[in-house]
Amino acid sequence: MTYQRKEVIGNATLYLGDCLEIMPALQRPCAIFSDPPYGQAVNTNVVSAGGSRRAVIYDKRREGATHRYAGGGLHSTGLARQWPKGIKGDDKPFDPRHLIDATDKWLLWGAHKFGHRLPKARTLVWDKVPTGKVRDQGDGETAACSVDPNAALRIYRLLWDGVCVGSAARHEVTAGQQREHPTQKPEALIAWCLPFLKLQPDSLVCDPYMGAGSTGMAVVKAGHRFVGIELEPLYFDAACRRIEDAQRQGSLFGAAA
Ligand SMILES: C[S@@+](CC[C@H](N)C(=O)[O-])C[C@H]1O[C@@H](n2cnc3c(N)ncnc32)[C@H](O)[C@@H]1O
Repeated sequence: MTYQRKEVIGNATLYLGDCLEIMPALQRPCAIFSDPPYGQAVNTNVVSAGGSRRAVIYDKRREGATHRYAGGGLHSTGLARQWPKGIKGDDKPFDPRHLIDATDKWLLWGAHKFGHRLPKARTLVWDKVPTGKVRDQGDGETAACSVDPNAALRIYRLLWDGVCVGSAARHEVTAGQQREHPTQKPEALIAWCLPFLKLQPDSLVCDPYMGAGSTGMAVVKAGHRFVGIELEPLYFDAACRRIEDAQRQGSLFGAAA
């Protein structure tokens, strides 16, 4: 199996590399939960004006610290963060065949873009709550879930006004959270829809298009094992750090219970 890096963080195993090469060599997961690039060609060449001015680098090898902060680092302009240009794979329609062939249970965001390529599935909706502002990535998104395909459509309402629309815009993210990825999903949204997969405790959940790791955070907090794959090193580093933090929070809550 070809990958550039592998990190094992508690119940999570994360690969830096191409999921098309890595997935066939992995253990069959109980479920795939993913938010793949689905051909919306997001313009990521914009700055995050309201956000931190530091790039965060994950470095497990450093003694006594797992995180290193680089002022004006890697992909930063020094004045504000700049994402790597474009999202890999987002410039063409997405074919989900390799995901639905990999397991019976899947939940895939972006179904409004590639649902015609999926078997019958239950529809879940994220309503981003209209604010009057034009959002590049739309006022909502849908997911398709293979479990209970005839069950009722469900809607989750969460304001997430973090879409970059231009260098002059001010971007505010719900609850003051800072985004680590231009198409990041809120962890609360993932936590809401994970139970629709009806998983047994300690199930293995795979996100082959992990981004900054929102799925992994919710999955490990819910008591499952996680395997994540991401091509872009900046997002992979963010996922490592966020999933490690999620596991630490999980064990703090566990210890207090
Ligand atoms: C829509 S984003 C996922 C965002 C994620 N849900 C989050 O909350 O951060 C899709 C991600 O898939 C990654 N990607 C694209 N093609 C890939 C491939 N062949 N293998 C692994 N990752 C890939 C992109 O770099 C991008 O970060």
